[in-house]
This record gives sequence, structure tokens and C-alpha cells, in this order.
Amino acid sequence: MSTVTQDAIPSDTDTDNATGAELHAEPAKHTPREGAFGNATHLQCRECQHQVTLGPFYACPECFGPLEVAYAFPAVTREEIEAGPRNIWRYKALLPVPDDIETSRNTEPGFTRLLRAHNLGAELGIDHLWVKDDSTNPTNSFKDRVVACALSAAIELDAKVFACPSTGNLANAVAAAGARAGIKTVVFIPSNLEHPKQVNSAIFTDSLVAVNGNYDDVNKLASEIAGEEEGWAFVNVNVRPYYAEGSKTLGYEIAEQLGWRLPDQIVIPVASGSQLTKVHKSFQELIKLGLVEDKPYKVFGAQASGCSPVSVAYKAGTDAIRPVKPDTIAKSLAIGNPADGIYVLDICRETGGAVEDITDDEVRDGIVLLARTEGIFTETAGGTTVGVLKKLVESGQLDTSLETVVINTGHGLKTLDSVSDRVSAAATIEPSYAAFQATGLGA
Ligand SMILES: Cc1ncc(COP(=O)(O)O)c(C=O)c1O
Ligand SMILES: [Zn+2]
Repeated sequence: MSTVTQDAIPSDTDTDNATGAELHAEPAKHTPREGAFGNATHLQCRECQHQVTLGPFYACPECFGPLEVAYAFPAVTREEIEAGPRNIWRYKALLPVPDDIETSRNTEPGFTRLLRAHNLGAELGIDHLWVKDDSTNPTNSFKDRVVACALSAAIELDAKVFACPSTGNLANAVAAAGARAGIKTVVFIPSNLEHPKQVNSAIFTDSLVAVNGNYDDVNKLASEIAGEEEGWAFVNVNVRPYYAEGSKTLGYEIAEQLGWRLPDQIVIPVASGSQLTKVHKSFQELIKLGLVEDKPYKVFGAQASGCSPVSVAYKAGTDAIRPVKPDTIAKSLAIGNPADGIYVLDICRETGGAVEDITDDEVRDGIVLLARTEGIFTETAGGTTVGVLKKLVESGQLDTSLETVVINTGHGLKTLDSVSDRVSAAATIEPSYAAFQATGLGA
């Protein structure tokens, strides 16, 4: 990790001032063991395709574009995958992790349920609707997937501290995974974050740092620390290429759980945009590997109007994403300057999807709608996704005859306050049958 020495480190929000060339100024002090990154062969710039060796590098030395993991995949069969463990390591051949990853102390996330959403589908008029419910991961959000991959990279790169700037869920996942692995964690969050998300980090680590500022401020601080401190693996800063690959497993699982088929349409929440771009990457990989049939699919992005820079750019028909100061109850999506926003625009446009946003009231409605139709309690991010799904149907942007998957990325118990004034006991009564009868709730 000590090769990361520049003062200004690119991050979710700060890619412009990256000094990627300096990434290679010093040789790495630690040489990762053979096979540390599985079938990954190198890192490759998303912008100019420049290739970089595997290591704690995340910005292109040529153009400062983001680096992505590239692979030489062996022939992988459905049967081999199906014979694997019921967690993300069943896809280890497609991830930057060693072959013995299953022996490492990690949180083993993934293989979450894909539920046929008959009731929500009927309510919205969608014929074939599924909910991919990632709220059942170890710390109740999809972030356990990305963190598991980042932890593997951090260990292989000999990091001493496992860290992140976070809008909440990532901090929960990093703190828990670090506890399991026995590695020191330090997690940074905006101080105004929902209380349950703070508790869900502080229970796993005594190094939760609440910063007076929004996520973009927290992210900047993390970048500064990464530049100053040796041996730190910031999961979404200096090991971001490996971290981001974890989101591919969401896409792999959906395809496998549909019987090795891609859905026609998929709706995904967008904060930094990493998850959306990686689900698309996963679908492309499955097609290339011959594990699913090639077919068109549409990708839709969901944001809350109080932090919707990607949706605003989409609707304006521009590639220029103007950073915003977030003001929304969907705090987990409150990234005002999304690193992968431009790629979200590309993917949604190229696949014939869209990016849409909804008000905070509609976010709350979305939470209640999913709960009352499918018995799934989602957090504000899921409320945003379900609310956007509804809006896409109403505006005719989503084809209701096509098979559609909506992703629930986090659990509602972490954002209880957002809906606690919407719901209450139907009645408070004395413990007598007569009192119950008086409520009119009898059959
Ligand atoms: C519950 C939840 N859903 C979605 C997202 C958005 O993920 P991404 O930053 O990959 O767009 C986050 C990010 O923190 C999140 O916590
Ligand atoms: Zn480049």
C-alpha cells in the first residue's frame, strides 16, 4: 500500500486531481503471492485502455481515468459454479481473489434470495417482476459483497488498516469484515447519518469517525489520509478496482437464479454508480463466457431528487454531470459527485434504459409499497428504487410486458426514522376480547 504516495488521491469524487503517474514512482514494498488475484491479469484504464500491473493502483498513469480489473478467464462451466459454496465465492474464478479464498476469514456474503414479486407486479401492472433482496447479507446491505473482495485485496497487498469513507452501509460492512479477519478498521461517515447505521458500525469497531460534513467532504478527507498514512487500504479509494468487482456477483446471481438467463430489464439504485456499472459488466462477462444467451437488456438507474446529478444529466441529454449538495432522506445514495456517473449514463442510454429520480415522499411511499406487497422492509435506497420503478411504469419508460428485476440493496431497520411517522399500531387496547372486538379488526 505504500506505493500510494501522492498528496491528492482520486476517489469517488475527486478523480480530476489524480496524480496517477506517481503511482508507479516507487516499487511496491510487498510483493503479492502468486495467484493473489486469481484469474485477473492486469488493471486497465476505462478511458484509454492503458494497462497497469496488479497492485494498489486505481488511477491511470496516462489519463487519470479509473482502472478496472481485466482477466484471462479459463473455461468456466455452469456446473462448476453450481457446485461452489452458497456465497459469492462460487464465482471466484470471475473475481480478483485467490483460489483458496474460501479458507480466508471473511463474511461470506451473497447468494441472497431472488423473489418473484407477484403482488408488487400486480400493483404496478408488471407481468413478470422479481426482487433481488440483498438486505439479507451479513450486515444487511449489498456492500458486504464489495467489501469481501476488497478485504481479499487488502490482505494480499499486506495492508495494516482496513478503512473507508461511507454513506453508512459500507462502514457497517467494512467494520464487520475487519472484525472477522482480525484486521484494524477505521471507518469515516458523515456525522448526520442515521443513528442505526452508526451503531451498526460502532458495534464492530472502536474506530468509527463521524465527520462534520457530507459524504463528499468525508471522501476528500479519506483521500488525504490515504496519501499521508502508510499501509491503509481504503476499500473505495486505493483498492477500488478490486472492491468494485464484488458488485458483479449481484448480476451473476440474478442470471443463475433465473435459470442462467438475463432479465429483460433491471432497476438499480445509483450513488457512486459503481454497482450499476458492475452489474452490466457481469452480464457482459456471462455472455462472453457462454454461460447465458446473448440478448438485449435495459438498465435503469434510480436516484432521489435531493441528490440526483446523474438523473439530471440524463434528462438534459448531456454527459456533463454537475456535482450537487445532497439534501435527501436517502442518505445511502447521497453522493453529490459520483465517480462512475458518466458510465451509468453510457450504460443506461446504450441499453435503452433510463435514469429517473423521485421525491423524498415518493421514497417513503416506495418503502411502504414494497413492505405491504412483498413483506420486504427496505431502507431508503430500496424505497428509491421501488419508487422509481413505479414512476418508470407510469411514464411509459418501462415495458410492463418484459421480465423485470428490481434490486433491494439494504434493510429498512437501518433507516427506521424515515417511515416511523407513516405507520403505527392500529389500536391500543386493554387485554380483553371485548376491547379487541371494539376495534373492528375481527374477521
Ligand atoms: C443501500 C445502498 N444502495 C445503493 C448504494 C449505491 O451504490 P453505488 O455507490 O455503487 O452506486 C449504496 C451506496 O452506499 C447503498 O448503501
Ligand atoms: Zn487512461
